[in-house]
Amino acid sequence: MSAAPRLNIWHPFTQAHVDPPPLPILRAEGAYLYTTDGRRIIDAISSWWVNLHGHCHPHIAKAVAAQAEKLDHVLLAGFSHEPVERLTRKLSRFVPAALTNIFYSDDGSTAVEVALKLAIQYWTNRGRRDKQEIIALDHAYHGDTAGAMSVSADCGFTAPFFRLRFPVHRVHSAYCARCPVGKRRSECVIDCIQSLRTTLEQSSDLIAAMIVEPLLQGAGGMIVHPVEFLKEIRRLCDQYEVLLIADEVLTGFGRCGKMFACEIAEVVPDLMCISKGITGGFLPLGATLCTEVVYKEFSGEGRTFFHGHSYTGNPLACAAAVANLEIFEIENVWERIDAIAALHRQRLAHFSSHPDVLEIRQLGTVAVIELKAEDAGYFSMVKPRLYQFFLERGVLLRPLGHVIYVLPPYCINSEDLNLVYDVIQEAIGSVRSCAMT
Ligand SMILES: Cc1ncc(COP(=O)(O)O)c(C=O)c1O
Repeated sequence: MSAAPRLNIWHPFTQAHVDPPPLPILRAEGAYLYTTDGRRIIDAISSWWVNLHGHCHPHIAKAVAAQAEKLDHVLLAGFSHEPVERLTRKLSRFVPAALTNIFYSDDGSTAVEVALKLAIQYWTNRGRRDKQEIIALDHAYHGDTAGAMSVSADCGFTAPFFRLRFPVHRVHSAYCARCPVGKRRSECVIDCIQSLRTTLEQSSDLIAAMIVEPLLQGAGGMIVHPVEFLKEIRRLCDQYEVLLIADEVLTGFGRCGKMFACEIAEVVPDLMCISKGITGGFLPLGATLCTEVVYKEFSGEGRTFFHGHSYTGNPLACAAAVANLEIFEIENVWERIDAIAALHRQRLAHFSSHPDVLEIRQLGTVAVIELKAEDAGYFSMVKPRLYQFFLERGVLLRPLGHVIYVLPPYCINSEDLNLVYDVIQEAIGSVRSCAMT
């Protein structure tokens, strides 16, 4: 027996004394993870939503290996390099044309921190020092650093840090299954937007920006908003001179059926955060984009944006991101996305009248089955049982409490995706009934 390690790995979102021990993974390929004891697991959540085209895609692997031979890293302050310039050129073909400038960082949380700081300094640089506050939605999740946590929802994740989190204006989310104003979708005219309207009427002079996960709130429960909700947010932000930050960290890069979720609503944000899928799951990288209107307020003496991370614009991450975006150009990615969306639609339909299901929802490649639960929420008792049930059947699904979602890499074949649904079908009912006893 080997000696106990002196240094223990502290796994995220894990309670070491209660949760099962972590599964050791040896390798991965396409939609599969392979355990050290020879099991094959379908990665039906794209390893926390980062993997786009499948694990270890050879095109990205080659690009990273080639880049590692040439330039590993150089600081981006006062220096530039080919991978970051190629990535910027490549991204400019994918992102909304109105977004003209990009600030690189490390991950989704830092992309959000940058957006919040840019929004506040934008107004300061314009001589509006009073505009310092932020509006955020109920059920939001924007990351785990202090600023990102502040704009994320008040919940079990953020509760211990109440002193660290800066106060925000919290407004309703369009969570139709649990409507905050007690309406049915069929009879509503996006009435939940009224809380935003009231906040803006009362406080817009103090507000720098509103941050949203456009159309799909991820970790808060995979909540899909009506398109009109996002459109109205944009309109109100314009009317009240408040910047709109779209956090596309989850929704970007085809996840929702278009390159970015904002495009579905034909909305252009003032600032946009991207990360997760940008490198196809190879290396961490984040970025915040902004319009020329925002950028121009940062030019001139005393207007510098003093922010930068050591690994900003890392050449290996940029090379991975370029190759990842090239796959959209050289493979039939959009056909795959459409095929996943069609299969989701077909299989989800069977769950809509299930007695244990509160609501089914879908946006592009993201499918959601919200169960009825008395202890609804991330800490629902049903979650660990479902998680274990899925894993034992060779499927990685990590329900958000009572909310089961499927968010596969685009390379998943229909046989595997059908199997994922077969396992979910088996789970609902059997796991639920034992969880309740
Ligand atoms: C919408 C959104 N924003 C930001 C983040 C934070 O990203 P990261 O975990 O890379 O810091 C996440 C992570 O899930 C996210 O879903």
